[in-house]
Amino acid sequence: MDIVVSGIRSTGNLHLGNYIGAIRNFVKMQEENHCFFFIADYHSLTTHPTPADLYDSVKSVLVEFLACGLDPEKATLYIQSDVPEVAELYLLLNMNAYLGELERCTSFKEKIRTQPNNVNAGLLTYPTLMAADIIIHKAHKVPVGKDQEQHLEMTRTFAGRFNRMYHVDYFPEPVAYNFGEELVKIPGLDGSAKMSKSENENGAIFLTDPPEVIRKKVMRAVTDSGPTQHNQPKPLPVENIFLLMQAFSEPEKYTYFNDLYNRCEIRYGEMKKQLAEDIIAFTAPFREKIETLSGDTDYLGKVARMGAEKARESASKTIRDVREIIGFKGM
Ligand code: TYM
Repeated sequence: MDIVVSGIRSTGNLHLGNYIGAIRNFVKMQEENHCFFFIADYHSLTTHPTPADLYDSVKSVLVEFLACGLDPEKATLYIQSDVPEVAELYLLLNMNAYLGELERCTSFKEKIRTQPNNVNAGLLTYPTLMAADIIIHKAHKVPVGKDQEQHLEMTRTFAGRFNRMYHVDYFPEPVAYNFGEELVKIPGLDGSAKMSKSENENGAIFLTDPPEVIRKKVMRAVTDSGPTQHNQPKPLPVENIFLLMQAFSEPEKYTYFNDLYNRCEIRYGEMKKQLAEDIIAFTAPFREKIETLSGDTDYLGKVARMGAEKARESASKTIRDVREIIGFKGM
């Protein structure tokens, strides 16, 4: 049976990109694998949340995990900071992670650009913490969206380096996984190539957004003044709307609007109205469950405790082995 590990950062609510790129696959994978899915709250500290915001975000992601269909009886659902063994493995991996390779990481370079006043060491070593998350359970497969591809490559580098350095065959080299398909990237409504919670909130639709907010965001999505020639290639923001329609609407609707575009008869307003209604229908069941679960603090506590216990059991075994391999044998 494959061991599957993946996580979601606790910086705000989950959006459609998180769902399609990751969570939808978590739900499928939990049926036939040994799965560990966690809320990456250590990672969220790179953005310096207040204690109250940190707590609220972790709670809302846990609620959203459950509302999306993750089953704490089938998969181990846990909060990263409940498993301090992860922090120890992070420390150990950092000893063999080099400045050059960390600085070359695309997500780090992007952070230098977007938050030049907060380029902290946690951002630089983000990939080693992620590698620790994954290899602490000796994972084989990691269901993630396309933006995490490079981090997975680095995870394999760190796992392989550990094995070679200590002449062991201990850590498997895990792969980013999407059922044999290309990894997914859901675009933003603001013309950006990736829907993201941190860059522009209006570019993202959250699972918790009520229908009127979804309508407003979709109707405001960036487009252009329309094609002037038949079968003209679509500029990025327009392509994005079509990609979203491909993900959330019936195929016939996509074909209908695509044909209109190719004949220069498209009315974006009409297309966006349709897309908004389809997204509202898609997210409705999640919204209902989120509302019901949010108030059930007892149940959420039980799920988190059960997950922490199972995750620590697996993580502490790895840490025992790793300490032994490295040479911390005790006196
Ligand atoms: P995060 O929280 O940014 O995103 C969580 C998951 O959602 C996917 N995703 C997307 N997929 C498709 N289209 C999008 N627009 C989109 N936006 C986000 C991400 O690819 C990811 O799978 N570093 C990770 C969290 C993490 C992790 C891990 C993941 C920490 N440790 C170990 C896997 C394994 C992150 O920030 O994801």
